[in-house]
Amino acid sequence: MSGTKPVVIYGANGFSGRLIAEFLREYNVPFVAAGRNRDKLQDVMNHVPGIETANFEIATVGESVEALVQLFQGSKVVCNTAGPFIYNGPRVIEACLKAGCHYIDIGGEQAWSREVADKWGDRFAERGLLAAPGTAFMSAVSDAAARMCLEAGAIDTLETLTMFKGIPTFGSTQTIFAVIPTDAFYLEQNQLKPWPRAKQYEVVVPGLIQTQLALAWGGFPQPVWFKNHPQVANVRSLGGLLDRQIMETVAATEKHFEENIRPLPKAEQERQLAAMASSVQGTTPPRENTREQRTIDVVVGRGTTDFAQCVVVGTCAYRQTGLIQAWAAHSLIHTAPRKVGFASPAEAFGHHELLRVVESHGLAKAKMYS
Ligand SMILES: NC(=O)c1ccc[n+]([C@@H]2O[C@H](COP(=O)([O-])OP(=O)(O)OC[C@H]3O[C@@H](n4cnc5c(N)ncnc54)[C@H](OP(=O)(O)O)[C@@H]3O)[C@@H](O)[C@H]2O)c1
Repeated sequence: MSGTKPVVIYGANGFSGRLIAEFLREYNVPFVAAGRNRDKLQDVMNHVPGIETANFEIATVGESVEALVQLFQGSKVVCNTAGPFIYNGPRVIEACLKAGCHYIDIGGEQAWSREVADKWGDRFAERGLLAAPGTAFMSAVSDAAARMCLEAGAIDTLETLTMFKGIPTFGSTQTIFAVIPTDAFYLEQNQLKPWPRAKQYEVVVPGLIQTQLALAWGGFPQPVWFKNHPQVANVRSLGGLLDRQIMETVAATEKHFEENIRPLPKAEQERQLAAMASSVQGTTPPRENTREQRTIDVVVGRGTTDFAQCVVVGTCAYRQTGLIQAWAAHSLIHTAPRKVGFASPAEAFGHHELLRVVESHGLAKAKMYS
């Protein structure tokens, strides 16, 4: 099967994939729910709320570039949810380019953003196509918040913090562990500089009495998005879960990795990290609850004489992700992105528009302070 629907969700049976399907149905966008196991895809799709009114098909596909090209050909947008993207992204983005599709994914891995920027950005731009990793709660919302700060004054320095309360899924846990060996960078005077390894940071989160523990967590995409930006010279991004115990476990794992696993061959490193991740989260968590799974993005902007802060309080990180993907895919079906090639979600779709969509669904609310 190929080209039967404008959108393909790759990894549709995952926790995020099913939420993209749910929101694509709201946007009335026909889609292919694709993955590697028909039974899993069928079972998950059967449980998507309102699915009986969606225009969709299920497709199983092999992992080769050729098989993916065949599936994607004739569609307009591929929503890739099969993380960790440093492992699974390359063949999917290659297939997208070959099939002539826009590529958006939900990966917040900085190493993957750097790879897309360096290797795929120009090639997608030449074809008039978008390559936008990170079109998801983490870090699209703080991307939009950062651009709100840039509008508010002569800001040249950004610090971003993205935190959420929730149960990381199997794929998220695999990814949290998979990025540990990768290089994480911040931006200083438009140069990417390495974060110190295995270091944790106490952060102040508006609305909470106690300080929280955050990590550079692979660096986040913002330093890559803002490299060579005409206004921005410095970007530091931190994030994590609003759960000190989980963050202490991740921080301890980073330390354990540096001391015991880094000396091993790369394949063995990956095997041990995947095994550790599976022992932490081996199953799919329950559907999010707005009264429990809260999110917060804090972006602070500084210039010589100016200051601006944008705080976005929200709920349900995964639901925000499903919505942002479906909204972006819907937009790409109807109009060209604002930027082709490698682009951040706010660059491709507009920061006011991005915030408006999460706000109008009651999933987040942005406030400016300056
Ligand atoms: N930036 C953000 O805000 C954000 C939000 C949510 C998720 N994410 C990221 O998105 C990824 C997926 O998260 P999730 O919560 O949806 O995880 P999940 O529930 O575990 O789903 C992962 C999906 O990817 C598929 N997949 C995994 N490895 C694959 C491979 N080698 N080939 C083909 N398909 C493969 C899985 O298929 P099978 O069932 O066949 O294994 C499943 O459909 C993770 O990397 C996570 O960190 C980011």
